Amino acid sequence: MNAATSPKLPDYAAPSLLAPDRRLTAEQVIFFKTNGYLAIDAIMSPAEVARVRGIYDQLFAERSWRAASDTYDLAGTGGVEKSAKLPQILTPSKYAPELLLTQMVANIKGMARQLLGDEAYMTGDHAINKPPHESPATPWHQDEAYWNPAREYHALSVWIPLQPATKQNGCMYFVPGSHELEVVAHQPIGNDPRIPGLEIAPGVADLSAAVACELPPGGATFHYSRTFHYTPPNISDDYRRAYIASASLPEKVRPVPRIFPWQEAQRQARAGKSVQ
Ligand code: NI
Repeated sequence: MNAATSPKLPDYAAPSLLAPDRRLTAEQVIFFKTNGYLAIDAIMSPAEVARVRGIYDQLFAERSWRAASDTYDLAGTGGVEKSAKLPQILTPSKYAPELLLTQMVANIKGMARQLLGDEAYMTGDHAINKPPHESPATPWHQDEAYWNPAREYHALSVWIPLQPATKQNGCMYFVPGSHELEVVAHQPIGNDPRIPGLEIAPGVADLSAAVACELPPGGATFHYSRTFHYTPPNISDDYRRAYIASASLPEKVRPVPRIFPWQEAQRQARAGKSVQ
């Protein structure tokens, strides 16, 4: 796709035109800082949930984003044109800019500032549309394992289901307190470096204290970039739609860069593929 037809990356950091109409309580902010995650019942009104869900379903139905390489199959090796096991759209707001004009996004930005500080800004969004019946789990991971090991992050993700999120369709699970840990050893899913998704390496993490966060439509969970999290397979009869936004304080360069060997294994696998 050439530059003339490819939509521009949206300005996520721009201030919202709408003021937030919902705020977190002081208790919720303390809960997040203590436990590394937070679940709330409503980040927007029911009318807004219906509107966002309409935009979301239209986006996945149109598939115009496929041509622009803004998607990948998180759990498979077959590429997006074959049936994706775990279809997702990176930067959905590039294709549906109206998402960034919603009260939902105004509230995401306001709550991120409450949780991280006044300098926090929105850094991106994506959409994971888990198909019904036996679509795979998103395995346990820390988001920061995907990121630049030379940078220091103070960042969070907001995860918003557009239908009820249940244990049956793949709600979020978190390990309380795990945000205090460094990034633990990860590996590509199934230890196959051709797969872009990551999972915590076997045996390196205690997941026994995990809590499930079932939510109504338009509820939200928040988690830090190092909080262990997971979603089980979707064994329900419907898609499990989730809109995910990220927010951050300004990144810093770490005095000593970390080494994430799992990223190197994936780079080598991709390089090997491209010369075939
Ligand atoms: Ni994640």
